[in-house]
Amino acid sequence: MKKIIAANWKNNGSKKFIKDYFDYFLKNIDSKNEIIIFPPDLYIDQVNHYRDKDNFNLGGQNINYLRDDATLTSGNSSDMFIDNGCNYTLAGHSEVRGSDIAFIQAGKALYASNDLQVIFCVGEEADTKKNGNTQNILTKQLEDLCDKRMYPKVSPRKVIVAYEPVWAIGTGNIPKLNDISFIHKFIKTYVSENHPFLKEKDIMVLYGGSVNLKNAKDILSAPYVDGVLIGGASLEVKEFTNICNLKI
Ligand code: PGA
Repeated sequence: MKKIIAANWKNNGSKKFIKDYFDYFLKNIDSKNEIIIFPPDLYIDQVNHYRDKDNFNLGGQNINYLRDDATLTSGNSSDMFIDNGCNYTLAGHSEVRGSDIAFIQAGKALYASNDLQVIFCVGEEADTKKNGNTQNILTKQLEDLCDKRMYPKVSPRKVIVAYEPVWAIGTGNIPKLNDISFIHKFIKTYVSENHPFLKEKDIMVLYGGSVNLKNAKDILSAPYVDGVLIGGASLEVKEFTNICNLKI
């Protein structure tokens, strides 16, 4: 089954890194999965030159928190990402969502444009999990996504959520596979019951947090997992290419 395999390079890379990366990747990729690469903004244009029809998709790690019509020093508007070949954007990754207010602002990315598919990141801290509050906090994080006011102009045809437990990011720890499936089902049910116009079949949920070649196949094969969002392991081009080439 076709899965989404997304690489979040965060603030890593250089012109040389990208050249070496795609020299290998383009020779060895043999995948029917949907691949998305999120380079740092400064390198999006360089990475875009390696695209050929649908060999991979390109995404921005973070479009403006503010609406595109507001002035913002250091900001990049959604149109600029589209102009540079992006068709995806992350919103609300735990490393940038900061306070709740910033997270709510990030939700505004949802209606910035119809041409960028948002991957809306949610996930609980270690304490939240320990206290049994994961579902409460996820519900709070998903409220924006289901708020009718988010869609004054645009009616998205699908929603992609990345479930990334904060305690699993970059730590080598992952939840039990049953727990991943349980939470993904919870997200699909919550969003389909609360979203103004999307049904469960329109909602995809990716898992993120310490995904690597050893655990990717099991995670991708778990019920309700539509793909993965990979940080550290996506910087190792052989490892990432092998994950992309998995057949599930
Ligand atoms: P990781 O990061 O794979 O290095 O844990 C995932 C992410 O932050 O998206």
